[in-house]
Amino acid sequence: MNDHIRPQPGIMEIALYEGGASHVAGVTDAVKLSSNENPFGPSDKAKEAFTRAAHKLHRYPSTDHASLRQAIGDVYKLDPAQIICGVGSDEIIRMLVNAYAGPKDEVVFTEHGFLMYKIAALGAGATPVAVPERERTTDVDAILKACGKKTKLVFIANPNNPTGTMIGLAELERLANGLPKQAILVIDGAYAEYVEGYDGGAELATRLPNVFMTRTFSKIYGLGGLRIGWGYGPKHIIDVLARIRDPFNLSTAQLETAEAAVRDQDWINRCRDDNARLRGWLAEALAEKGVPSDTSTANFILARFGSEEEAIACDEFLKRDGLIVRRVASYGLPHCLRITVGDEPSCRRVAHMIGLFKAGATA
Ligand SMILES: Cc1ncc(COP(=O)(O)O)c(C=O)c1O
Repeated sequence: MNDHIRPQPGIMEIALYEGGASHVAGVTDAVKLSSNENPFGPSDKAKEAFTRAAHKLHRYPSTDHASLRQAIGDVYKLDPAQIICGVGSDEIIRMLVNAYAGPKDEVVFTEHGFLMYKIAALGAGATPVAVPERERTTDVDAILKACGKKTKLVFIANPNNPTGTMIGLAELERLANGLPKQAILVIDGAYAEYVEGYDGGAELATRLPNVFMTRTFSKIYGLGGLRIGWGYGPKHIIDVLARIRDPFNLSTAQLETAEAAVRDQDWINRCRDDNARLRGWLAEALAEKGVPSDTSTANFILARFGSEEEAIACDEFLKRDGLIVRRVASYGLPHCLRITVGDEPSCRRVAHMIGLFKAGATA
């Protein structure tokens, strides 16, 4: 750091975010199971919309995102006036923190919660507060105990990354109702579409003045490379976020691809079904080989090993075979590996290799 030119307090405490690795030196057929991406990619209709957008690159994009908000509103049965779109849900998280938390304020999240909450809090000069979970699951009572006058935001990823666990809507409502009056509960639904019949907290965000929901096109919609997310909640929060959103934060390609993607729910239903089937198979196959995991509600499994050493050794073993999974020591889970549910051959290959590893084979 320069002796005279200094960043705002908090910024140098941010540990640089490490994305999931995408290649292994010397391996040409590596399989990436490290970033919870949809192995089947986006809908063909989304790809076609992306290609069509190439003809409009000389034009500035829409600033109000009206067409995408209308499409999301139609599909999710929400008022488009209460929707805001961003560069991934990361940008929505960042906007919420920048708008509502600053020095001396606290941003609360769970022990093994998504890393972006802490990064955004430190970036805004606020104090991050991590609350213990119970058996790798959000503990509402512990969160309520941790909240006080300084709490401005409480982030709950439901399902949570990287644990894969979730809590019910009644528990989320109890949390919202028990928070101090100045605090907002943000329900992060990045993986909500993977849970059949779950609305991601939309109904709570419609009914309660202190609940906001974030969503993404990066997971089941298969558009992680394009960076589109959205948020939904009370008008008073949307009105605040709209004031700090960059006017041209999303490109025409992002807006039109997302719109085509959200209107193709047949593709989403197929991806949800395939994920549920393959996730069940993978969890069972690993358990049979002595690697347990909590029941996952998302598109990944948090595989638990006997020790940090064993998790590191298995990660190395898989990497030598071109299988890239995610170490989650930075999430406080050094003895675990997070494995994205891939397509069927990838699931079979990772289960087979973990079986060999557990049997003591060397690659
Ligand atoms: C729980 C959770 N929330 C939000 C995000 C951010 O997703 P994006 O910015 O791609 O929308 C992720 C990505 O991994 C996540 O796991």
